[in-house]
Amino acid sequence: MRLGFIGTGAMGFPMAARLARTGHELFVWNRTIEKARPLEQYGARVASSLDELSRVAEVVFVMVSDDEASREVLSAVLREGRPRIIVNHSTVSPMYTREAVEEAKRRGVEYLAIPVMGGPSDIERGEGVCIVGGREEVFREVEPLTSAYCKEHVLVGSQENASVIKLALNSMYFSALEALAEALLLVEAWNVEPKVFFDAASRLWLRVVVDRYAKRLLDEKYPTSFQLRLAAKDLHYAVFSGYHKGQPLPMLSELAKTFLEASTIGGLGRRDYTRIYYFLKRGSTG
Ligand SMILES: NC(=O)c1ccc[n+]([C@@H]2O[C@H](COP(=O)([O-])OP(=O)(O)OC[C@H]3O[C@@H](n4cnc5c(N)ncnc54)[C@H](OP(=O)(O)O)[C@@H]3O)[C@@H](O)[C@H]2O)c1
Repeated sequence: MRLGFIGTGAMGFPMAARLARTGHELFVWNRTIEKARPLEQYGARVASSLDELSRVAEVVFVMVSDDEASREVLSAVLREGRPRIIVNHSTVSPMYTREAVEEAKRRGVEYLAIPVMGGPSDIERGEGVCIVGGREEVFREVEPLTSAYCKEHVLVGSQENASVIKLALNSMYFSALEALAEALLLVEAWNVEPKVFFDAASRLWLRVVVDRYAKRLLDEKYPTSFQLRLAAKDLHYAVFSGYHKGQPLPMLSELAKTFLEASTIGGLGRRDYTRIYYFLKRGSTG
């Protein structure tokens, strides 16, 4: 089968690399084309344009930043080519997903929303978790392909369901991180060593939060795995998705504001999202 992959950033690159090794013919495209070139070592071909990719690929995978980026690339894909199936892995709003599903339907193209849980290192090990929204028979066709990077697939019904569940899960991740960061700041303000606090928290069910975030949060040199600006984007999408249905989400609204400030005023947008701790501690550096 001829496949196309659009968006070879932190997540898209390892996904495309694993897809290339499935033995299918893979065409890749990235806005900054140099970032796609190293995929040639895995046998992928770099498409010179979205038009070229869209004309040849039967299944097109997308992994870009947000609603806007997705709208931009998919309008080109649907204008020029006629893939049979689009698999959108990007974390986008359910409002955008509805728009994209309708547009694809008008063009006679199957559309699956399959946002991914897990970071680039999970993908490299083939251990992502795919949240699958769309027609099951269409998903079963692409399952052997997405299995290259997802060890589990959770079928959740419609494409919109998948998008909103992804935002809800990320909201829980970021809330847990923020809770740990603020609790740590509180005890540190009273001269308690982080280790003493983490040890106490680890005796409780809070252990999972400590295990996941404690070291990463304190490590100022932790490499960026998930950018803070993308976490701010996800929180805003979550809040607006609630607003869209008349559902207030007061804690997430505050969190979205804090992450946006850290990302913009704090200048931490391209740093790892766990830098939120240093933003609250010092203001801007971290
Ligand atoms: N990193 C994680 O741990 C993680 C985990 C799960 C889900 N996600 C989600 O995965 C998606 C990608 O995240 P990432 O971490 O891979 O971010 P990233 O490294 O910044 O990659 C973003 C990708 O989107 C492309 N892009 C942005 N704006 C575009 C536009 N207007 N037109 C065309 N392409 C555009 C970028 O192209 P350029 O290279 O030219 O900028 C790049 O390929 C996001 O939706 C994110 O929320 C990330």
